[in-house]
Amino acid sequence: MFRYYRTLLVFISLTFFIQLLYSIVKLQIRKQSGYYGTLRNTLDKSLQQLITSVLWPNNATVILNVRPRNHIKVSSQHAAAKLRETLPRNITVNITRNNTKRPDTFINASFIETLDFSVPDIDVYFNLSECKISSTSNVVKNSVKYRVNVSTTLSSYTEIERKHSVDIHFGGHWYPSDCQAKQRLAIIICYRQREQHLKMFLNHMHWFLKQQKLDYTIIVVNQHGNESFNRGALFNVGFVEAIKLYPFTCFIFHDVDLLPEDLRNIYKCGSRPKHMSVAVDKFKYKLLYPTLFGGVTAFHTEDFIQANGYPNVYWGWGNEDDDMYFRVIKNLKKNITRSPIEIARYKMIRTHGHKSGKTNPHRDTILHSKYNYSLDGLNTIQYSLHQIRLYHLFVLVNASLVEESYEQIRNRLNIVKKSKKSR
Ligand code: BGC
Repeated sequence: MFRYYRTLLVFISLTFFIQLLYSIVKLQIRKQSGYYGTLRNTLDKSLQQLITSVLWPNNATVILNVRPRNHIKVSSQHAAAKLRETLPRNITVNITRNNTKRPDTFINASFIETLDFSVPDIDVYFNLSECKISSTSNVVKNSVKYRVNVSTTLSSYTEIERKHSVDIHFGGHWYPSDCQAKQRLAIIICYRQREQHLKMFLNHMHWFLKQQKLDYTIIVVNQHGNESFNRGALFNVGFVEAIKLYPFTCFIFHDVDLLPEDLRNIYKCGSRPKHMSVAVDKFKYKLLYPTLFGGVTAFHTEDFIQANGYPNVYWGWGNEDDDMYFRVIKNLKKNITRSPIEIARYKMIRTHGHKSGKTNPHRDTILHSKYNYSLDGLNTIQYSLHQIRLYHLFVLVNASLVEESYEQIRNRLNIVKKSKKSR
């Protein structure tokens, strides 16, 4: 009996001793929490920087979770890569898939961390014969398939990449391998929160443009922030950023919801700016009015510069395209051209509940004011560039604009009185 009591006593003391040891260790860890606190502050600062400068600034959520084992959880691969570069070696960075606060923005779209924009190998490429495809060439003219079926089925980036990207270089850049494309084409998309439309656009356009054997790149310019949407300014931003990547010779400014329906509608620039989206299904395939210059337009690089680009002063929906029309006539001193109406056919994507932005109440006053086009345009574009990223299917240019009040615009452009008179 006594022996049993002794064993029990030893057991109880041992348990007590182990508990005591555990408490001492815990106390030590608590004492060190100051260290973790400081570490957390430092990390918070670098995360703050990441959120504002590197990541998708609007919505990225980076989950910081510093544990005794020096683990940090972040919810984006890119953030993880950036943190790895900046943090001490003893801290490991894990990627988590916690997307609770993130919008489904470009999720699963592949990208590279660098800005290595692939260009054709000069020695090989310039020895190839010129690609021969035009709206009058037999290949396209006699093909029963020149009218293409525009699918508005929604696919994931993974599916679109699987279908099209095998020969596409990062940045949505493609050029033919069996002939030489004479123009270097940038397709500039003005964009804000229309990801489903973008997916349909990419799915259709990569297939469409490859048929035309062009050296092309798709560049998506996202307007970050809460300022009113400014289509013209975004096109100017796209132009400025695009020419830093590659010496583009031709620019096509494109709405993301317009998909060409005819392969004879060649995505090339001519000697005059071209209105390409002449016949849109929404408008019963008719030209809305004689000076319409919206939707899709094509400019040689020099022509765009000479016209002083798009206006930056139209905040909200309407008239920036009409202003561009007058810039071509007055600044560039050229007339526009149009592809034939039976070829320049487009489907407008109207699914997925997108609503047009707020109409700009000052649009007519500015348009009809006869302001001097050299006071605003490509030469005055101001933006903060948050990010350029080479996704597999496109280049993302993420920028924010500073919204000018109408008063400021009026003063800057010397708009003296309201006038309904057309130019
Ligand atoms: C607007 C243009 C627009 C066109 C077609 C016009 O009234 O001024 O900006 O492109 O309508 O919707």
